[in-house]
Amino acid sequence: MPPYPTGSWIPVALSADLPAGTVMPAQSPAGPVALWRSRSGRASAFADRCPHRGMRLSHGFVRGETLSCIYHGWGYAQEGNCLRIPAHPALTPPDTIRVATQHVEDGDGVIWISAGETAAPPPRLDGVAPLRSMMVEANVAALEAAAGAKAAGGLLDHSNDGLTLRLLLAPDGEARTLMHVLVGEDANPTERIAASRAAETLRRAAERIRSGGAVQ
Ligand code: FES
Repeated sequence: MPPYPTGSWIPVALSADLPAGTVMPAQSPAGPVALWRSRSGRASAFADRCPHRGMRLSHGFVRGETLSCIYHGWGYAQEGNCLRIPAHPALTPPDTIRVATQHVEDGDGVIWISAGETAAPPPRLDGVAPLRSMMVEANVAALEAAAGAKAAGGLLDHSNDGLTLRLLLAPDGEARTLMHVLVGEDANPTERIAASRAAETLRRAAERIRSGGAVQ
């Protein structure tokens, strides 16, 4: 991801895409993370590297309120400290064994990770509801060109056939963008389908621009 101003919030996933008891990979300002939700519903983000031998924790599994590594089963609490080493069941792991954690907020249907310390909560998304996410193989500039509009505060408004979409953008490196599609919270199923199609059309247009094609 590009450098984000300290204190800003990055929309790394939709809440609905991370059910209780699951883990998924995501990109944060500090690098790859294992984004996981405990059985009780709390979302957490760990650096995606097990402190034991470096296995990706996003390949692990959730057990109650802990995330366990798939390799040797070390289990980590939401605060990042190791709670359990299966090969040494009588051992209380020293507090020095811990995985780096990041600040996560789960609000308005979006999971946010902050870039460094932050004093303010994530932005509110009043009047809209998340519909779906998609990875666009193009940067924000190409999406803006395809939409004929400029993003402001990470939000790009796009009108298509009388339908207005709000697109929440999270750059992923120099050439990709994670795009969350938001629709009016009272949108009916037909409007939701139309919004999803419009977002797909915009994605394809941005990817054509990125590969040297023209806007159509
Ligand atoms: S690499 Fe994770 S427990 Fe061994």
